[in-house]
Amino acid sequence: MATLKTMLPWTSTPLIINAPMAGYAGGALASAVTLSGGLGLVGSHFDMDALRSNLETASSTFSTDASLSTPKTLPVGVGLLLFILKLEVALPILSEFKPAVIWLFAAKQLSDYAEWASQIRAVSPDSKIWIQVGSVDAALEIAASAKPDVLVMQGADAGGHGFEKSAGIISLLPEASDALAREGFAHIPLIASGGIVDGRGVAAALALGASGVVMGTRFLAAKETVVHPTYQAAVLEARDGGKVTTRSKVFDELRGPNIWPEVYDGRSLVVQSYADHANGVGIDEIRKLHNEAVQGEESGFALELKGRAAIWAGTGVGLVRKVESARAIVEGVRSEAKEILSRVAKV
Ligand SMILES: Cc1cc2nc3c(=O)[nH]c(=O)nc-3n(C[C@H](O)[C@H](O)[C@H](O)COP(=O)(O)O)c2cc1C
Repeated sequence: MATLKTMLPWTSTPLIINAPMAGYAGGALASAVTLSGGLGLVGSHFDMDALRSNLETASSTFSTDASLSTPKTLPVGVGLLLFILKLEVALPILSEFKPAVIWLFAAKQLSDYAEWASQIRAVSPDSKIWIQVGSVDAALEIAASAKPDVLVMQGADAGGHGFEKSAGIISLLPEASDALAREGFAHIPLIASGGIVDGRGVAAALALGASGVVMGTRFLAAKETVVHPTYQAAVLEARDGGKVTTRSKVFDELRGPNIWPEVYDGRSLVVQSYADHANGVGIDEIRKLHNEAVQGEESGFALELKGRAAIWAGTGVGLVRKVESARAIVEGVRSEAKEILSRVAKV
């Protein structure tokens, strides 16, 4: 935790981070999370103009707040999806804005991270490289090859994309921590992600050895998140996360052939497209119905699991009950975690 505090001096412990959800986590969410003492992340696809506009939003927020303007970096991070992005396209914008954290995810091959890390470090030496992975082996290989400043251990409960073969953070994080220590990488802080939505999850993650937590699904109910109202309503409605969400590659087949690297699948609500797949309907028919539905006003989203478009969400979705400001989420979760940790310390 001390290492992270040095990296991100404006943050309060326990460190709370919003997931860099591409298309959902923009400059407004990232700025609000950072202003609340967390680490705000902007998500990005391949559209660097959209990323620029989100970083300009964050930049203008912090230029007027002297307490947060750090001399060398912008106090938010940027998430990059490596398999759909070219390094030479991303580098100019990273070099220009110098985000405090550059989060890398979903490379075609684990060996790609080393090249990205070294080229990013060359153009923005004060930015820290964080890499999200979902297995012990991947953590070890990346620690040795890319030398990340932080590893984000993503468990199977996570919403959105992740390793198809993965464990929940309750076993993944301690096993990764032990294996990394054995190989001489004990200095790399670990962040927990997947299924954490409140202070109880944060307290548990810290007990497992995490130095901070990432929440994606919980921030789908933040006022600042860019999300279709019906998507957000479906997240609020969902109960019993292990039942109403599932991991599957079929969600990546809905628009057209799956372009994600082989080891990834994604967790979504079990929408109608998934139910059809489970009932043996062919992918061509499912895709046709999906692509018609997304043209409609509701963009293919619906309540009661009746929509055709994927609604990415983690197993913690049943605990997400109301829309709040990002500040209320960060401060509420942080104080609940502190209260639990001090209570548990007396045991
Ligand atoms: C809607 C949604 C979109 C996501 N998009 C991305 C993304 O673009 N890049 C990324 O690295 N992770 C993405 N993730 C995964 C998160 O980084 C993180 O692992 C996950 O949200 C943690 O689990 P939780 O949703 O249970 O909190 C996404 C997650 C969700 C729910």
